[in-house]
Amino acid sequence: MLDVFYGRARSLSKFKVLELVARVPYQAWEQTAYVAITHVHERGNFSRRIYERVLQSRAQQDNEQWHLLIINEQIVNQGQDESRFMFYWLPQLIAFVFYQFSWLLFVLRPQASYRLNADFEDHAEHEYMTMVGEHPEWDTTPFSSQFTADYGEYVSFADVLRQIGHDERVHKLASETLIASARFA
Ligand SMILES: [Fe+2]
Ligand SMILES: [Fe+2]
Repeated sequence: MLDVFYGRARSLSKFKVLELVARVPYQAWEQTAYVAITHVHERGNFSRRIYERVLQSRAQQDNEQWHLLIINEQIVNQGQDESRFMFYWLPQLIAFVFYQFSWLLFVLRPQASYRLNADFEDHAEHEYMTMVGEHPEWDTTPFSSQFTADYGEYVSFADVLRQIGHDERVHKLASETLIASARFA
């Protein structure tokens, strides 16, 4: 879908949109899990297991957030010109609609929601690695950021993007693990 709106070519602006949207399923899962605890709070052990999912969703959501903020920071630092409509307002709309969809899919078919997210993350990982390969100059671009305390220090911008790509792999594996054990919604 992002290719339809933003073309097939990889760019930091397109990845900013991807990261904005990537947080959404985790938000839907977290919210749904809290509602589930409302319903099953009398069963302590079950509630605790659901809460562990809350923590996992939140950690991944936060991780995507640092991706988003770092990518946005780089776009600003590079002085890239962006269409306000295409790279602010349209992503807001996509995120809103995708939240509703993610919530509904998760309530109806949790396994399908995890599967979709795993595919999303797999795509993101490979797109990041491809983009780094397309920009060898980023291997010698020093990385400085106001988010190093949150996301770590990296020598080059290419290193940061490779770390982000690796994070997407970790997210994918976590979703695939959950497919087998999707037991609440
Ligand atoms: Fe991400
Ligand atoms: Fe991710």
